[in-house]
Amino acid sequence: PTRYAGYSGPVVPSGGVVARILEEVYELCRSDTSGTLADYIPELAAVQPDSFGICLATADGRVYGSGDLDTAFTIQSISKPFTYALALADRGPAAVAERIDVEPSGEPFFEISLDPTTQRPRNPMINAGAIAAAALVDGADAADRFARIRRSYSRFAGRQLSMNEAVYASESRTGYRNRAIAYLLRGAGIVDGDPDEAVDRYFRQCSIDVTVRDLAVMAATLANNGTNPLTRERALSRPLVEQVLSVMTTCGMYDSAGDWVTTVGLPAKSGVGGGILAVLPGQIGIAVYSPRLDAHGSSVRGVKACRELSNRLGLHFL
Ligand code: DON
Repeated sequence: PTRYAGYSGPVVPSGGVVARILEEVYELCRSDTSGTLADYIPELAAVQPDSFGICLATADGRVYGSGDLDTAFTIQSISKPFTYALALADRGPAAVAERIDVEPSGEPFFEISLDPTTQRPRNPMINAGAIAAAALVDGADAADRFARIRRSYSRFAGRQLSMNEAVYASESRTGYRNRAIAYLLRGAGIVDGDPDEAVDRYFRQCSIDVTVRDLAVMAATLANNGTNPLTRERALSRPLVEQVLSVMTTCGMYDSAGDWVTTVGLPAKSGVGGGILAVLPGQIGIAVYSPRLDAHGSSVRGVKACRELSNRLGLHFL
């Protein structure tokens, strides 16, 4: 194991130890069948509820996994830090900050949470901030803007990702609240142009299919200062990685961010598809997939597995 420049935290133990701990955590969490599938997007209830996978990828490109590593599920809100990253790269941090704040809202992901004075969404991890970020992505037209998002996520994952049409259609049919948020943002001057286009892009980005292995590699790319450790391709510049991980630390778990940061101690993001991604800067990326959710919209086994991994591997970095 190598220590990375500028980082003085724990070092990932040797491969054999990681593999054994992953198996132990997997077995421990598997018996927990509590929580419920998201069904407010009808198609999300169509998954196999017992699916469970844990994957860990190091910043130097080693990958360890247990369980269902190749099951596809939609990225959902785990897309938010990656689109925020692209908006930062396209517009620069100052222009993005004029439209999206970085304060934890302490509220659920679907709350409107606009600052009463500036009208800015509180942060890019809640839906309002995520729709504002989707609107800031550059491109010749709507198709090109979404294509750039998909390509950017694919660089993080190290393979071509694609959109799940059934989940997209299901969310688009039922996403009235997110449409209302997009219109509010348009009225407040946070979103320019067509609010329907911005929210459609948000629905599309949420419907990108990933595996738990993809998410672990995406997390490891953030851990590796923005360079994919498997393909060696740069997905994001180092200063922007710092900005994205900071916002994930304070806001990525919404109204359970405080509980998460005290018990797991890692920047993270959850999604209602059942994925969770966590990053130990300079060292490793972790991802868990299990679709039964808690009251905050996060995977029950995912939260538990991250707690156990953080404790057993000594990953709490704060
Ligand atoms: O905005 C929505 O309803 C979804 N497409 C994403 C929500 C989500 O994943 C919240 N995170 N736990």
